[in-house]
Amino acid sequence: MKKNVLKVLNDQVNAEFFASNLYLSMSSYFSSIGLNGFSTWMRLQYEEECEHALKIYDYILSRGEAVELGAIKKPQTKWKGVLEAVKAALNHEKEVTAMIYNIVDVATKERDYATVNLMNWFVNEQVEEEDSVSYLIDQLELAENNKASLLLIDRELGSRVSEE
Ligand SMILES: [Fe+2]
Repeated sequence: MKKNVLKVLNDQVNAEFFASNLYLSMSSYFSSIGLNGFSTWMRLQYEEECEHALKIYDYILSRGEAVELGAIKKPQTKWKGVLEAVKAALNHEKEVTAMIYNIVDVATKERDYATVNLMNWFVNEQVEEEDSVSYLIDQLELAENNKASLLLIDRELGSRVSEE
């Protein structure tokens, strides 16, 4: 594998682990303010991000290369409220999407179509991730700080999670 492709893939493994820590931190925050549905939902996001990291990790190994894990910076631990936290999650997903598009660019230039193929899965995944977080933001904005509505959204999130 070309060194520059390996470098951006490696960076992505670390970025996915950072995302998983960030979402676990949000999960803890939601639990601390009594929103257990949001907390459970974010915990599932945490698990998904770990899976993303491992998907790229396994791919690097399957290409006969080694993964270089790096230090993961401390995630934010407190937010002003649920809407601010969920907006931060969307911003983070947008950053991840930009990183994935960059990997597609680098891999395409190097004619590394196996990596492009793997990244296509991530491109689709990002559409879903951004869509589900945007939906939550819409719901929260509709609720407009109405506590009863917020609890309803929280319950819906919690029950949807247990259905899955
Ligand atoms: Fe991810």
